[in-house]
Amino acid sequence: MNPAIDPKMDYKALVRKGYDTCAQAYDKSRKAEAGAELLRLRDRLHEGDAVLDIGCGAGVPIAKALAERFNVTGVDLSREMIRRAQQNVPTGNFTCADIMSLRFPPASFSAVVAFYSIFHLPREEHSLLFRRIHRWLAPGGLFLCTLSHFSEEGYTEDGFFSVTMYWSNYRLSGYIEILSRTGFMLVQSESTGSGYAESAQEFTEDHPLVLAQKR
Ligand SMILES: C[S@@+](CC[C@H](N)C(=O)[O-])C[C@H]1O[C@@H](n2cnc3c(N)ncnc32)[C@H](O)[C@@H]1O
Repeated sequence: MNPAIDPKMDYKALVRKGYDTCAQAYDKSRKAEAGAELLRLRDRLHEGDAVLDIGCGAGVPIAKALAERFNVTGVDLSREMIRRAQQNVPTGNFTCADIMSLRFPPASFSAVVAFYSIFHLPREEHSLLFRRIHRWLAPGGLFLCTLSHFSEEGYTEDGFFSVTMYWSNYRLSGYIEILSRTGFMLVQSESTGSGYAESAQEFTEDHPLVLAQKR
């Protein structure tokens, strides 16, 4: 674990390059079925609702499962991930961009999901991202995301699917406070386990899965 403190380093470029390189390996390790990950959300939405998937990766399994019933917009930093998502989910509307560089009109979406992606943005940006998500959601809209149990300042690690990767988190209690301050009501917080397996480890990580509703 190396502190990400080099002022000359562009850590988002590192994340983008990392996922461009490891997209195939990541994709192969990703659980193929969404199952429990989307259980709490699907039944609360209506057919045809607009859903934004932040850090959609290759679109499998999340965007693909959502696209069976909803109108999906996916955003990802990695060109290679977006190329794969377009192939895997032909009915989705995909954009390659840093989510922080995009703007959507207020109340554009009934739900926003972010699986295993927020931790790749510097944590100093997380509050602003949550405020924007709140604005992009329709009244009563839902935000479903994986967060972290631990507080970690930005750091990099080698050997994430053979690339160097960047992460940054607050602990779960901190996120719940930020969400509440931003105007979300916590609906549910449970554990996903992990949706993907790094190296020889088999789905050993544990990520809190949080469902919040715009008040
Ligand atoms: C661990 S993968 C998760 C992919 C997918 N959500 C899933 O459930 O498998 C993280 C994804 O977030 C994307 N990502 C990281 N930072 C991002 C940013 N600032 N804006 C948009 N996407 C980002 C990465 O390119 C990568 O595809």
